[in-house]
Formats: sequence, structure tokens, C-alpha cells
Amino acid sequence: MNSTVRVSRRNDGEIAAYRRIRARLPRLAATLLAEDLTAQSMPDASPGKWHLAHVSWFFEAMILSKQAGYTPVDDRFGRLFNSYYEALGERIARGERGLMTRPSLDEVMAYRDEIDRRMEARLAQGLDDDLARYLFELGLHHEQQHQELFLMDLLNLMACSPLDPAAYDVEPRDEAVDSGQGGWVSFQGGLCEIGAGQEGFAFDNERPAHKVWLEPFSLSADLVTSEDWIAFIDDGGYRRVEFWLSDGWARVKAEGWSAPLYWREEAAGWSVMTLAGRRPVDPAAPVRHVSFYEADAFARWSGRRLPTEAEWEQAARADPAAFSNLTGEVWQWTASAYAPYPGFRPTEGTAAEYNGKFMANQMVLRGGAFATPEGHARSSYRNFYYPHQRWMFAGVRLAADGA
Ligand code: AVJ
Ligand code: FE
Repeated sequence: MNSTVRVSRRNDGEIAAYRRIRARLPRLAATLLAEDLTAQSMPDASPGKWHLAHVSWFFEAMILSKQAGYTPVDDRFGRLFNSYYEALGERIARGERGLMTRPSLDEVMAYRDEIDRRMEARLAQGLDDDLARYLFELGLHHEQQHQELFLMDLLNLMACSPLDPAAYDVEPRDEAVDSGQGGWVSFQGGLCEIGAGQEGFAFDNERPAHKVWLEPFSLSADLVTSEDWIAFIDDGGYRRVEFWLSDGWARVKAEGWSAPLYWREEAAGWSVMTLAGRRPVDPAAPVRHVSFYEADAFARWSGRRLPTEAEWEQAARADPAAFSNLTGEVWQWTASAYAPYPGFRPTEGTAAEYNGKFMANQMVLRGGAFATPEGHARSSYRNFYYPHQRWMFAGVRLAADGA
């Protein structure tokens, strides 16, 4: 077999992966109204149309524009669809993304199509070097992150409507939620390695792999359920200051928290807004839409604590079969601040701004959610959010000291 054949085969694989991953967002958008995709519910959330365009702009900014003499599809789009890359110039404020009635949804879809044509041509030529290949994979993983963000943001928007609109007939998810298996899983700890090795794709924030010392610990086999959460509410969890961090208590007061986001108490009991509309809270289902502050208060009320990210990763690597819903249901808050690993180096070039500059005041979440595309998350994956945020698909797995 000569090398030309090998090269073209490799490109076929890249083009197939590109097509497969790029197809999901348009599919999620296909049954929605242009209006659903245009409005913005809050500064933290973006309109669907913006997500559709931003991920396309990302391929243009990180890969296509690196070719000499490249002409942008539309040179006004950087200003609209650059999220936060200071090196790439001025952009509209995050909270004003919902004011963009132009370009239209059709124009954004045409922009996607043009980026797809250009990317496929670029891939057919072959990417030049390891950095270009890394940025291409980053573009695919970035697209997958935005597939989940699209759903989180859409739910937040639907929850603003007194009509409680169902975005979809059924919640979009690949796998059924695992049923609980009960009990705790013990680990001896000791000197462990966490972080992504050299093999395979990982974001820069997952590297380098390094040693950590863990004391003996246990992790709950199951996620905290809505039934558990109702017991916390009924026991005055949101009214008893002794469970709360000071910053968390300030949020409880300022924002009037008395239950997870999207929960409502009705004559018939608790209901929750979902992507399939407002539903009765299922007591057996893992709780969602709690902030770090709530997760931490719940853990204290339980007499337990949140796991550190190193404990979570060690457990997930050592004995994944011992747990239910390690991935595929909700991201799990950890007690770990989102900080660089020892020896962290941001990705070279423009993508240096991707993760590293957010390493202050946020907490790490581990696992993966029902909305996380299949094949996207890893045991070393570090998701991160501010401790007060609750619109994510985030829940709780408890930990305890001692094996
Ligand atoms: C890792 C989900 C916090 O939403 O900013 C999207 C993902 N990074 N585009 C975010 C991300 C660049 C990131 N989170
Ligand atoms: Fe992004």
C-alpha cells in the first residue's frame, strides 16, 4: 500500500467524523421555531442561532483563516460570533446575543454550509502538522460542547415562558438513565495518577498527567435523587444557615432559592421543567439543576461531603462498573477549584484562550450529562462552572472519608 492511499484514507476518516459531528446541531434545531433559536434568556445562555454560527466561526478562526490569502465568508461575522478570544478582536457583549435578529436563521445555516464546504476541501488537502490536526479535533470537541450548551440554554429559555413549552416530544438522550444500585464503593487511596496521558484527544486543562496523594475514601454508587432532595427541602435545608457556605447563603437570600432551578410546588406535588415540557418530579431520578452551593449544603446536611476531582477520577478509572450514572445523566459537582494542573501549558496560538484563562473562581464538575454527545467525555474530563450557576445539567454524587 503506498502512502498516497494511506493519506487519503486518513482524510476520509476526518471528513466522516466532521460530517457526523456537524450534523447533530442542525438536527437539534430542525424542529424548533426560528423564534426559539433567536431569543436569549439570560447573559449566561446564548440563542440557538448564535451557537449554530459560533461553532462554524470557530473552524474558520482556528483552521481556515490560517491559510495564506484566506477570505472570510463574511468579515462582519467575527464581531458577532467570536465568544471570548481577545486576540481575535472586538465582539458584541455576551448579554446582547439575543438582540441579533440579523443574520437570519437561514443566513446562519447558509454560513454553516459554506464552512462545511471549505472545511471538507481543507481536510481533503490534508492538515499540515500536529497542531493543525489538534485544532481540528478541538473544533469537533468544541462543537460537541456547544451541542450540550444549546440544550441547556434552550431549556432555560423555555422555562421563561408561562406556557412551559416542550422543546421536544421526548428528552433528547442517547441512553436510558441507570437505576440505582445502592451502597458505597471504597478506595484505599495512596499515590494515584490523574490527568490525560499523551494518547488520544484531551483538552489542555486535562494535562499533564500527574501524581496525587489520596487518603482512603468512599464514593456513593448512585447519584443523589429528587427524593433525597425533597427530604433536604422538607428538613428546612434552604432555611437553615448551618448547612451553607457564606457565599451560598447570600445567594439563597438574594435569589430566594427554595428548591432546584425549574422546580415548582403545586397542589399535586413538585414539578420540574424539562426539554420535554413541565413534568412531575420523578422521586427516583437523579436531581438536576443544583448549584455547587446547594450540592455542598446538601452534602453537609447528609453528614457527607463532595468528592474531590482526583477522588472522582481515581474511582472512575479503577472501578467504573461499581457506579450508576457515572456519565450520561448529570455532571457531578466536586469540591475542587478549577485550577491548572502542575506543569499545565495552554494550547499554542489563539486556542491558548480556550480554557486556561478561566482558571479562577470556578469549580470542577466530572462525569457527563444526558445531553453530552456520546464519545465526548472522558474520565479525565474537567467541566467547570461558577459555584452559583444552576442551569447546567448538574447533580451530586456524595463522598465520605475512609474506605
Ligand atoms: C467547559 C462548558 C464551561 O461553556 O464556556 C465552549 C465550554 N469552551 N466554548 C463554556 C466551551 C469554549 C465551556 N464549559
Ligand atoms: Fe465556544
